[in-house]
Amino acid sequence: MELSVKQMDPEEFGRQRQEVLTAWPTGKEVDFDEAVAYQKELPAAKVMAAKLAQGKAKGVTYAQPRAGVALISEHIELLRYLQDEGGADLLPTTIDSYTRQNRYKEAQGGIEESRSIGRSMLNGFPAVNHGVMACRRVVESVGVPVQVRHGTPDARLLAEVTLAGGFTDFEGGSISYNIPYAKDVPVENTIKYWQYVDRLVGLYEENGVRINREPFGPLTGTLVPPSISHAVGVIEAVLAVAQGVKSLSLGYGQCGNLIQDVAALHTLPLLAQEYLKKLGYPEVMITTVFHQWMGGFPQDEAKAYGVISWGAVAAALGKATKVIVKTPHEALGIPTKEANAAGLRTTKQVLNMLRDQTLPQTEELTLEEKMILRETRLILDKVLELGEGDMAVGSVRAFQAGVIDVPFAPSRFNVGKILPARDTTGAVRILDFGCLPFDREIRDFHQERIARRGRDEGRDPSFQMVIDDIYAIGKGMLVGRPRG
Ligand code: 5AD
Repeated sequence: MELSVKQMDPEEFGRQRQEVLTAWPTGKEVDFDEAVAYQKELPAAKVMAAKLAQGKAKGVTYAQPRAGVALISEHIELLRYLQDEGGADLLPTTIDSYTRQNRYKEAQGGIEESRSIGRSMLNGFPAVNHGVMACRRVVESVGVPVQVRHGTPDARLLAEVTLAGGFTDFEGGSISYNIPYAKDVPVENTIKYWQYVDRLVGLYEENGVRINREPFGPLTGTLVPPSISHAVGVIEAVLAVAQGVKSLSLGYGQCGNLIQDVAALHTLPLLAQEYLKKLGYPEVMITTVFHQWMGGFPQDEAKAYGVISWGAVAAALGKATKVIVKTPHEALGIPTKEANAAGLRTTKQVLNMLRDQTLPQTEELTLEEKMILRETRLILDKVLELGEGDMAVGSVRAFQAGVIDVPFAPSRFNVGKILPARDTTGAVRILDFGCLPFDREIRDFHQERIARRGRDEGRDPSFQMVIDDIYAIGKGMLVGRPRG
C-alpha cells in the first residue's frame, strides 16, 4: 500500500483486517455488526464524544485518571473506586506494556502469574488477552465513559477488541505513539497502522456510532515546545479526519509556565480547525486535553500535591475540556487506588474553585499565542510542502529532514538535534533549533528570552541549563537554577 493521506480503500482494509483479527484468538470474538449494535445500546452518559461535547458547551473541565491492572475483577474494582471515591468524571483503561508491544503470549503469562500470586504482575489491563466480553464487563460496571490509554505503535487489534468491547474513546496516533515510544519503527509504518485504526473508527461513525480519538499530546514530556506538539497534534487530526473520524480530543502536556500553557490550550483547537478547513475536510468536534506534569515528580507526597495542583490551575484557566490527573505516587511507580483517588480529589477541588475564573487576555498572553501560531504554521506548511500537499507523505519527510524534531525521543527516525530550555519565567524556549523551519524573528525571540535567563543566572546558556531543567521539579523548582 502506497503511503497517502487518502482514505484507505475497502479492499486493503479488509485484507488487513483478516490478518489483524487472526493475530490472537480473541480476534475471533469481534463481529463488527454486532459490535455496532452493542455500542448503540450504550446510554449517552457512557459515550465519551457525547460527554465531551456537553463539557465543552458548559465550559467545564473534566478530570480523568490513568489506571489499569492485570485481572478483570480487580480492574473493575479499581475503576469503581476512582469513580466513587475519586470523583473521576471520565475513566481510563491503561494497557500493559506487553500488549503495547503486541506480545500477547507474555501478557498471558502475566495474567496467570497475577492469578497465582494474588496481585497485579502487569502494569496495565491486557485488553486483547481478556477479549471482547471482558471489556464489556468493565464498561458495564461503571457509570461514565471509558477510554483506552496505551502507547502502542501497532494498535490495530487492540482497537478492534476494545471498540467491539464498548470503549468509546481510543488514545494514540501514528507519530505520538511511535516517536516517544519506539526506537526502530519507521513513521511510514505507524501512519499505515493508525490509518487502519482511524478507518475503523470511521466505519463505526458511518454506522451511527461516534468514537472519540485522542492523539497523545505530550510526546516526550515537559520540555517539548508547544509548536512541536501542536504540529504533531494537527497532523494526527488531519490523518484521522481523512479516515472518517468526527470527534477529536487534542492533547497538550503542561510546560509549567501558566501563560504559555494557557496560550497553548487556546491555540491548539484553532490550528486544527484552520488546517482541516484549508485542506478541505469537514468540520469535526474538537475538544482539548491537558496533561498534568509529565516529567519527573518530587518523592515527597506533599510536594507532589503542589505539582498536581499547579496542573489543575492551568487546565482550569486554559478551559481544557479534560485534564489527565497525576498522583502523589508518581515518583514511585504505579499508584495505589487510594493515591490515585487522592490525585483526583486534589484536582477536582482546584477545578471547582476556578470554574468561573478566566485569565485576562493580557499582552503577554496574546504574544505567546501569536508565537505558537506562527511557529506551528511554519512547521505545518513545510510538512505540506515536503509532501507536495499530502500530510502523510510530508510527515515522513519532515521527520527525515528534522522539520519536526521531538526533543529527547528514543526513535532513530527522529533527527534529535533540537534542544529546548526554559527562559527565566519557566516558559519552554528553544536553545538549538536544529533544522526547524523558523524565521529570524522567531529565532531572535527565543534567543533573547534564553539570554535573559543566562544573565539572571550569571552563566552562558548551554546544555547544562537543559539538564538542570529536566531535574528541576523533582528538586522543588520549575527553572533549573544553579545552586548558590
Ligand atoms: N495505572 C496508573 N497509572 C499508570 N501509568 C502508567 N501505567 C499506569 C497504570 N497501570 C502512568 C504513569 C505516568 C503516566 C505516563 O502513566 O505513572 O504517570
